[in-house]
Amino acid sequence: MRRLRLAVLASGSGSNLAAIIEACRSGRIGAEVVAVLSDKPDARALRRAAEAGIPALSIPPAVGESRESHGARLTAALAPWAADLVVLAGYMRILSTDFVRGLEGRLVNIHPSLLPKHKGLHTHRRVLEAGEPEHGCTVHYVTPELDGGPAVLQAKVPVLPGDDEATLAARVLAREHVIFPRVIGWIASGRLSCPGGSPQLDGRPLTSPLLDDGRDA
Ligand code: GRF
Repeated sequence: MRRLRLAVLASGSGSNLAAIIEACRSGRIGAEVVAVLSDKPDARALRRAAEAGIPALSIPPAVGESRESHGARLTAALAPWAADLVVLAGYMRILSTDFVRGLEGRLVNIHPSLLPKHKGLHTHRRVLEAGEPEHGCTVHYVTPELDGGPAVLQAKVPVLPGDDEATLAARVLAREHVIFPRVIGWIASGRLSCPGGSPQLDGRPLTSPLLDDGRDA
């Protein structure tokens, strides 16, 4: 069967990218990463891609460049790869509305919180400051509203006594590495799609996110 072509955008260490590459190469999901793009020339994600033999492109914004201009360059850079799905795996820059609209229903993100709680940055710190007992991560389709697109799958972790940002982030990240490949696998197998901006799983509307049970975490 034809494998889903993934283009991955990443700014940081690329551990989610690594989990996705591994899921593809092990055959657990019917997809392949055809290109990795970053806004950060020194991102570890680019090195991971190169080490895996995957084309790695650095597309930093120029000094003073508008979000729209950078978005247009990203769109142009993606075009040759003919990706079926564009995956934001720790891409830490707000994308232009045109870029997002051009990929409607074909753009997914992972966010380190139980959306709609804690959109934006510093989610682990904010959970600790609020004294919340649990935290987690969400895979969602991307719309022009930051971290506001329809959520598909979430995983929860407890906040433990003595946690700091680093320990909590690590616990959440381990769950990200499970749920992100899982959702991509659903899309690759045709179980999940997002016609008209509304997710459908197995032919039924997904009106609220599913909760991963963590059994194979
Ligand atoms: C993840 O926690 C992701 O949710 C957030 O940035 C982090 C990226 O980690 N947006 P990595 O680059 O995949 O290791």
